Amino acid sequence: MSIEKKLDELKNKNHLAELGGGKQRIERQHQAKKFTARERVSFLLDEGSFQETDKLVVHQSHDFGMEKKKIYGDGVVTGYGTIEGRTVFIFAQDFTVFGGSLSGANAAKVVKIMDIAMKVGAPIIGLNDSGGARIQEGVASLAGYADIFLRNVLASGVIPQISAILGPCAGGAVYSPAMTDFIIMTKETSNMFITGPEVIKAVTHEDVTMEELGGAETHNTLSGVAHFAAENEEHAFSLIRELLSFVPDNNLEDPPEKETADPPDRINEELNFMVPDDPSQPYDIREIIREVMDENFFFEVQSQYAKNIVIGFARLVGKSVAIVANQPDHLAGALDINASDKGARFVRFCDAFNIPLITFEDVPGFLPGVSQEQGGIIRHGAKLLYAFSEATVPKITVITRKAYGGAYCVMASKHIRADINYAYPFAEIAVMGPEGAVNIVYKHELDKAKDFSKLREEKIKEFREKFANPYIACEKGYIDEVIEPKFTRLKLIAALKMLENKKDRNPPKKHGNIPL
Ligand code: HXC
Repeated sequence: MSIEKKLDELKNKNHLAELGGGKQRIERQHQAKKFTARERVSFLLDEGSFQETDKLVVHQSHDFGMEKKKIYGDGVVTGYGTIEGRTVFIFAQDFTVFGGSLSGANAAKVVKIMDIAMKVGAPIIGLNDSGGARIQEGVASLAGYADIFLRNVLASGVIPQISAILGPCAGGAVYSPAMTDFIIMTKETSNMFITGPEVIKAVTHEDVTMEELGGAETHNTLSGVAHFAAENEEHAFSLIRELLSFVPDNNLEDPPEKETADPPDRINEELNFMVPDDPSQPYDIREIIREVMDENFFFEVQSQYAKNIVIGFARLVGKSVAIVANQPDHLAGALDINASDKGARFVRFCDAFNIPLITFEDVPGFLPGVSQEQGGIIRHGAKLLYAFSEATVPKITVITRKAYGGAYCVMASKHIRADINYAYPFAEIAVMGPEGAVNIVYKHELDKAKDFSKLREEKIKEFREKFANPYIACEKGYIDEVIEPKFTRLKLIAALKMLENKKDRNPPKKHGNIPL
């Protein structure tokens, strides 16, 4: 064969691979408001940076006439490229080829780039759009899934793993994304479930749509499986790029920095008045967070789930920080089962990837209730306590108002190794709020009192003045400084700078036993 012919042969093979399942199926994909795998990769990565691997891989199946249906690439596009100049590894399931279903060969492609990503120490991004296990391949497909699951676990805490769900994601296929650090789902075009509506109907006689069962809204508001709901695929890609800008390439590196013109000593008098005078009045903690952070930017994670705790990323003098904050605007900021799970997972991610933790605390305690107790608030709340305690990254806490009971201990208190603990002058740090405390401590006096209400009010006032303040904790050294809120930015920046070279470690062990 002449050189020209050999070059043509290569071009022809590449062309066939790029056609995937063919023009008709590509059209169907577009009609379903979805991009193809290759379009997705090119939109997400820096222009022209994508280097494809295993473009000519085909499956090895001979059953169900599959030997006559071989398509180059076999339903997944894999390779590497850059995002903002940083290397990332990527796989994108190609729904136009056997519905993006996972074959042995297809899984081996994914495994190959996961293995290199680990050796190189760079993030891995999965763009999921698949009918699940390739039915024609049987156990070879299941084996392929398990090979990927194992790598998800080994990579956890070593390189960031991000999953976008851009189409169906059913059966065991959901477990690979579930073990990654962040899941982004597109609204109306993506689903995640273990068993679909038809199986559910047969087993439990429940009627449910795909969207209700496992759409973006369900997983972002009810189940907490997903972290972001994207309006469309372009939005999903911009979320991935934003997210990556806050995290390092791997657990041995620091997060990237972003230049800022925001002065480190910016003081805002308004901050002094953002926490309401009346301790029972709600406010949105995100307004305080935005006010303090570089360019007033806060990238919230899981914004629709367990709204009583707020988590996300921001920057201080260009450096990435993780925010964990009670949200007085929702359930008064009380910690419940879902908030504890949400907070704990995020704290552990940030600790694994060297992102300092800044905690804003305004918490009346753990949420009382039969469903909470029977649902295991003890076990779930313990996860948050465990996560904050085990974290060795710089930990800075600001008590904006209430810090009551066990929640005081949990929310990065001095006792669980927070480095610097600030409190606003209106902070209330005590075992419980004045009302509850008075009912217990003065029970007998109140029972016998002629004017019950008057005595109770007096005692509440007395308790509030004596205990509901930051100064008792301050006297004991549990609070490093009571600060005027307007200085929050300046104080956090000073503490972060001081902690830049912080080194702390946990005792050597195989791993701890977080109360899952
Ligand atoms: C092989 C598959 C496939 C699969 C879809 N296709 N799923 N081929 N194995 N699992 C093929 C179809 O035959 C079709 O081929 C093409 O992909 C597009 O599928 P459609 O059904 O036409 O598309 P749509 O109507 O959009 O429906 C998408 C779907 C549906 C909802 C994903 O295809 C579906 O329900 N598929 C099966 C899902 C499933 O049960 N998977 C197994 C889950 S169990 P043509 O040639 O017509 O284009 C599992 C176990 C993993 O994954 C366990 C790991 C531990």
